[in-house]
Amino acid sequence: MALPRAPVLACHSPAAWWTKPCPAGVLSLPFLRSVSSGRAALWHAIRLAREARDALSGSATAGVLVPTYHPRTLIAPVIAQGLRADFYPLTASGLPDVGALDAYARLDTCALVLPHFFGAGRSFASVRKWCTTRGIALIEDCAHALQGHAGERPVGHWGDYATASLSKFSPAPEAGLLGSAEHRLPRLALQGAPWRDEAKVLKNAVDYWLLAREAEDSLSGLLQRTEAGVVPLPPLEPDPVSTLAEALQDGRLGQVHQHAAWSARLLAREAGSAAAAARRRQHFATYAAALTPLAALRCPVPVSADGAPYVYPVWFPTDAMGDTAYRALRGAGAAVFRWDQRWPQTPNIEGDAGHAWSHQLLQLACHPTLRADQVERTAAAVAALARHCL
Ligand SMILES: Cc1ncc(COP(=O)(O)O)c(C=O)c1O
Repeated sequence: MALPRAPVLACHSPAAWWTKPCPAGVLSLPFLRSVSSGRAALWHAIRLAREARDALSGSATAGVLVPTYHPRTLIAPVIAQGLRADFYPLTASGLPDVGALDAYARLDTCALVLPHFFGAGRSFASVRKWCTTRGIALIEDCAHALQGHAGERPVGHWGDYATASLSKFSPAPEAGLLGSAEHRLPRLALQGAPWRDEAKVLKNAVDYWLLAREAEDSLSGLLQRTEAGVVPLPPLEPDPVSTLAEALQDGRLGQVHQHAAWSARLLAREAGSAAAAARRRQHFATYAAALTPLAALRCPVPVSADGAPYVYPVWFPTDAMGDTAYRALRGAGAAVFRWDQRWPQTPNIEGDAGHAWSHQLLQLACHPTLRADQVERTAAAVAALARHCL
């Protein structure tokens, strides 16, 4: 059993359910609506942006600007509404080059989606200005950054709309938030979740808790073999939730018109927990201590001591090195992600960091279910792989 890639229920979870979380960030936005997932939040944000733009311009909008580096769940809410995904490239700092963005926008563009990649809150000031000047809504995707500061403002306060995925910060299997600092949000007219969903959420939470107790990894073995010069490369199992059909219509996007289950909303209250955020910062610091001395292993975003980091990003310099490290780490049971399943129409744009990241960038989980020794073993194995490959 590999290490869990998302937080699971813990003894301290119930304490967080009854404590009102109020960290600066998405949870402190004045206008907030609970939805069934981060994808559902994106779907509603895009719909609201499109309706506002159509009402102003009197003509139908058809395009949404999206980054070339993405999970498919970020693109599916655009395609599912019959809209065009217009891909924009990223600089090596994980932001668009504002001077070049006009080349990707069209007259019928209604919104630009920009995530705080890896949970490092960044100032979106220049993108905010670009969007305002052109009447394009900025959708600030906070799936990775729920709390903390993003430059001059708290996370979630740059966008016309902010979207969040609570399943990444709590044991809730699915739950999301749609928020805004500026716009009073209309009622979303969502239906209640069926009772069978309530039972399923609770059963899953307990099952994952039991599985996490038995989690094992072979990271020490990987470290030894890598240092001896032999990196084991098991084949990768296909990711069960990233096929195109699933991303579009497995019923998970179908739940955009449904509330998150009540039990999921209760579990999701842990997302604002100060104790969980502190543990994330601790894990992030462990990775940083082991990996920042390796100069060739670039960390594309500034290391932040703020908020609740989602993952620690490590960027191997070539696709081959990224493949080796990812396969070896997954095979040894590490809690690691890679966004290598890009939307099929994603273009290859020269000099685009997003294209390189899809194979070269690994995201090491920081969630609080991981124990300190598991994070230390992961960091040591990544460092050994880097020394072997570089
Ligand atoms: C940047 C980003 N946006 C949106 C989503 C969708 O969130 P959810 O899984 O809650 O639907 C994800 C999920 O991985 C994500 O990483």
